[in-house]
Amino acid sequence: MNNAHARASGRPATRLRPRAALVSAAVGLALVATSMVVTSSAQAAESTLGAAAAQSGRYFGAAVAANKLSDSTYVGILNREFNSVTAENEMKIDALEPQQNNFTFGNADRIVNHALSRGWKVRGHTLAWHSQQPGWMQQMEGTALRNAMLNHVTRVATYYRGKIDSWDVVNEAFDDGNNGARRNSNLQRTGNDWIEAAFRAARAADPGAKLCYNDYNTDNWTWAKTQAVYRMVQDFKQRGVPIDCVGLQSHFNSGSPYPSNYRTTLSSFAALGVDVQITELDIEGSGSTQANTYRNVVNDCLAVPRCNGITVWGIRDTDSWRSGGTPLLFDGNGNKKQAYDATLQALNSGGTTPPPTTPPPPTTPPPTTPPPTTPPPTTPPPGGSGCTATVSLNQWNGGFVATIRVTAGSARLNGWSVGIGIPGGSSVTNTWNAQASGNSGNVTFRNVSYNGTVNAGATTEFGFQGTGTGPSGTPTCTGS
Ligand code: G3I
Repeated sequence: MNNAHARASGRPATRLRPRAALVSAAVGLALVATSMVVTSSAQAAESTLGAAAAQSGRYFGAAVAANKLSDSTYVGILNREFNSVTAENEMKIDALEPQQNNFTFGNADRIVNHALSRGWKVRGHTLAWHSQQPGWMQQMEGTALRNAMLNHVTRVATYYRGKIDSWDVVNEAFDDGNNGARRNSNLQRTGNDWIEAAFRAARAADPGAKLCYNDYNTDNWTWAKTQAVYRMVQDFKQRGVPIDCVGLQSHFNSGSPYPSNYRTTLSSFAALGVDVQITELDIEGSGSTQANTYRNVVNDCLAVPRCNGITVWGIRDTDSWRSGGTPLLFDGNGNKKQAYDATLQALNSGGTTPPPTTPPPPTTPPPTTPPPTTPPPTTPPPGGSGCTATVSLNQWNGGFVATIRVTAGSARLNGWSVGIGIPGGSSVTNTWNAQASGNSGNVTFRNVSYNGTVNAGATTEFGFQGTGTGPSGTPTCTGS
């Protein structure tokens, strides 16, 4: 086990490898109790889901609700078994931006901090979605909505920059019918390129996070919806749209059963050059039938090197959005179900070969079709005691979001200002992490109280969005 795996499992790196531990334990048992029969439970190399998954470099996560973090049974299971979390509702658009440009991160932060303080991963769910939009966004269409969506993506991904392992950048954008079409939503009506625009904005805001497309009913390889998502991911990879992973929600029940070709689906997506994550797993049923399906899902993931993590959508059956279907690994009292035993056993049987690590590329290759965004900036080396500024622009017909990186020179900055020319007819409508002198023409953006001090060679970022065309010239940076 390497250190990365030890971190993921929350255990020290210096320990016996599972198989070695098993051999030692078996020898000891034989010496002191030769009549004892070593039962199948002795095959369990690890005793918790997270640790068992970490043997092969994978994570095992759960969807978590902030208001249950005060439930001791719930938190006891969470802390013991899992090493990744997804906020079940707290990072959705209505939760984070209930009024436009008024962000509330409190409940989401409780979940994120709970996870990060224990060395777990966090899956961010979700930046752009037709559902659970706040009222103000539901009313919007066209350019105003595209601006608002990109602003949300940029602000939230920037806020959580460095803390999120994988973002569900876009959730459930495809239709459920047999036509392979996009879902008709207010976001879709802003133009077919809304998904790639969201991915580009997310990459600009947090270059270190894996960026996923996440959906349900995309488990069966033969279904039109699966094929449609596959074609989109293929197209994105070919054109250099920044996508790193595909999330299969995998809510299984009689209407949408576990398909025998699930492994084909996982491996086919992986072959496009993306990670595959099982993001919202729950399987309605009970007893050995349910347990066997959990076992199959885990085995399928373990068989695909780029299937690098599994998240169950809740902890106890009573926590589930489909509690009547008892679809989870623990019963309402927090007891382990047969499904739990099967899952743990499958994870333990899955070997210890880690999947390849696939950090997202640091920059986005320029698209081959007319570019909806400008290429990512190259940061010039800062010189002297002043500062430099670079612009990363996300632009579409009628609007833009600009992210500006300020880099201090060889001396610490105690304040800075950046001058940027906004083209005629264009206008800055909203600025964050800076104070703007105006909204058109030559606009000066000055630091705000909390980001004026920048150590030598260090960087800080601010952003603004606007209508019309984004800035194209080189910004000037003045330090003090
Ligand atoms: O918290 C309020 C409560 O105060 C109020 O009294 C009650 C009345 O309706 O509603 C409560 O909020 C509910 C919330 O869950 C918390 O329980 C919402 O109504 C309800 O709509 C919301 O449902 C969530 C659902 O997404 C909404 O789309 C589920 O918890 C959540 O599990 C589910 O998760 C989705 C994924 O995000 C995407 N994939 C499908 C998955 C299952 O639907």
